[in-house]
Amino acid sequence: MERRSRMADNAKELIDKAIAEKLEINNHSYTKTFQVADLGCSIGPNTFLGVQNIIDAVELKYQKTQGQSSFQLPEFQVFFNDQISNDFNQLFTSLPPERRYYAMGVLDSFHDRLFSDGSLHFVHSSYSFQMLSEVPKVVVDKSSPAWNKGRIHYSNASDEVIRANEAQYVNDMERFLNARAQEIMNGGPMALIIPGCPNGKSHSEAFVNIKIELLGS
Ligand SMILES: C[S@@+](CC[C@H](N)C(=O)[O-])C[C@H]1O[C@@H](n2cnc3c(N)ncnc32)[C@H](O)[C@@H]1O
Repeated sequence: MERRSRMADNAKELIDKAIAEKLEINNHSYTKTFQVADLGCSIGPNTFLGVQNIIDAVELKYQKTQGQSSFQLPEFQVFFNDQISNDFNQLFTSLPPERRYYAMGVLDSFHDRLFSDGSLHFVHSSYSFQMLSEVPKVVVDKSSPAWNKGRIHYSNASDEVIRANEAQYVNDMERFLNARAQEIMNGGPMALIIPGCPNGKSHSEAFVNIKIELLGS
């Protein structure tokens, strides 16, 4: 938890900066409804914190851009997305009562289109986009050199297993980015928080993989 909350703080700092510096708000693009999507939201509470941070930063940007005289905030519409199997009842019953946005659930995989063309002003996804859309067939095929011996992680796995997962991820990433490229309005930012492995470090040294290896054993 300590690690996640430090990560959330770091992400907040970067998101605040991106909104302050990059979000385009000018006379032509003032919008009455600012639409935010959180992809892979799970059941809370992290999603609520992430969304609130974005709204606070956007409000601040509006305030600074318009000046005090004609100051008018947009309304916020938030789309909470996850797979159909997610417990959306739990998510919606724990929505913060003091929220300043309209909440909607969007059910299905973020690897494909979820929203209409140019309808989103900000896309956020935290700790979800690292998940593959499917297990690569070769890692569960006993006759393949990429067979992963029945394990569900690739810590200390052969190069073939790692390459097969990598290829799947490249494919998934392309589908995700193509979908978002159509859904986000021109100039709309996207914040993706993804656990990663620093260059030069092996997969088996990464913190997440050490935890999963332990669970596996
Ligand atoms: C580790 S949780 C992260 C939850 C939350 N964003 C957070 O930061 O705490 C990952 C979530 O991503 C969702 N997820 C995984 N693949 C997905 C997909 N293809 N489309 C939508 N949601 C997905 C999972 O169902 C799960 O709820």
